[in-house]
Amino acid sequence: MTGDVFTPVKIGPLTLKNRFIRSGANEMMSKDMRPTRALLDFHTAYARGGVGMTTLAYIAVSKDGRTLPGQGVMSADSLPHYRAVTDAIHAAGAKASAQITHGGSFCQIGDLSTPRAMSASGGIDKMGVLMGRFFQRAMTRADMDRVTREFAEAARLCEEAGFDAIEVHMGHGYLLNQFLSPLSNKRRDNYGGSPENRARFPAEVLAAVKQATGGRLAILAKINLFDGIPGGAKVDDAIVAARAFEGAGTDMLVLSAGRNIESVWAIFGSPLPYDDLAAMQGGLFAKLQFAILKRSVPKLPPFHENYLMEQALVLKAGLGASPMKLAYLGGVQSLAGADAALEAGFDAIALARALIHDPGIVDAWRTGVSDTSGCTACNRCVAVMYGASGTHCPVVGNALDPALKDIFAGEGIADAA
Ligand SMILES: Cc1cc2nc3c(=O)[nH]c(=O)nc-3n(C[C@H](O)[C@H](O)[C@H](O)COP(=O)(O)O)c2cc1C
Ligand code: SF4
Repeated sequence: MTGDVFTPVKIGPLTLKNRFIRSGANEMMSKDMRPTRALLDFHTAYARGGVGMTTLAYIAVSKDGRTLPGQGVMSADSLPHYRAVTDAIHAAGAKASAQITHGGSFCQIGDLSTPRAMSASGGIDKMGVLMGRFFQRAMTRADMDRVTREFAEAARLCEEAGFDAIEVHMGHGYLLNQFLSPLSNKRRDNYGGSPENRARFPAEVLAAVKQATGGRLAILAKINLFDGIPGGAKVDDAIVAARAFEGAGTDMLVLSAGRNIESVWAIFGSPLPYDDLAAMQGGLFAKLQFAILKRSVPKLPPFHENYLMEQALVLKAGLGASPMKLAYLGGVQSLAGADAALEAGFDAIALARALIHDPGIVDAWRTGVSDTSGCTACNRCVAVMYGASGTHCPVVGNALDPALKDIFAGEGIADAA
């Protein structure tokens, strides 16, 4: 079986040269909602390093859909900048995927047009509380129609910008996950209650994205296998959602887990370095916030490779035969781990940290230079994401051109041309 990870895979209309997908991981390399030269260099490094496809993370479908200031927005204004990024990725030999999303109640960056963040349901705004906004509001039908149109329009612009695939982010507690999860969806209409109802709005969004791109781009959805805390969604909910997403025309599911506030360790299979995070963000309030979060982490088993495999296999078995492909994600840290995912019947392997640690790891595995990763799953790359240099592995240092390292002082791509 070893070696099959380097064979092509078809995802809807798209063929990747191998099974490796650089998973979307917030780069924090956009300025004024447009990608910078740093983002272009960052993703070109993954393409040169051998992945079949690299994913630009967290591209908001609207200005209000951002959760952090270094994120981009897909718009007519940013489109030429994204085109420059996709051209560079293609020239370096890989395909490009755009992760499009809206943060819902996580959108707390200060320039919002609404007095309260919106979500599936109203009530206490767990993210807003940390910023001094205590309540969120439930989306109305008009909100849902508007957001659906925003996703469809963003998808259309992604095609114009040269992306080969679109990944709709439905995991980790963002807006569409706020519908999927019983932790945040308390609706009493057709969009709340049963797992089928909770999957309805995300499936409508996927169908609109599929229609907007007419089957010309591969459509991926990143979902949670489980939320990881009592009262959260479980793998049985994910199986129901997966069937709904298959019906909406999804070409591939990327299987993740966990929620950014309540169970972030389930995303990573290891806890966040809360002391580093407090230091990065500074201020007494941030220190207090991270001290509280640190105390909420349960006793975890030690990090282990392919930590989501067990639940991913449950979903795979529950879904049964399906034209929809499945990408294994979560703690792939060696060629053997990637092989194991393929042997278990998954079609592709998505990786974030092994590639943040070494953007050339796929070619190193292919050529036999190495068969493991030096990533220790310490998650310090998550902490530095909030700094001025954007996402990188502090264990090996920042490989970006020094002239590009201060992202927020940097130039947009078109400005630099
Ligand atoms: C610094 C960092 C930022 C991340 N940001 C995102 C993001 O914007 N969108 C997303 O879907 N996942 C994000 N993730 C999660 C990864 O895509 C992936 O699900 C997780 O790291 C587990 O995969 P791994 O074990 O291969 O790292 C991020 C991960 C890291 C390390
Ligand atoms: S900081 Fe580096 S070693 Fe630590 S988890 Fe991130 S990529 Fe891996």
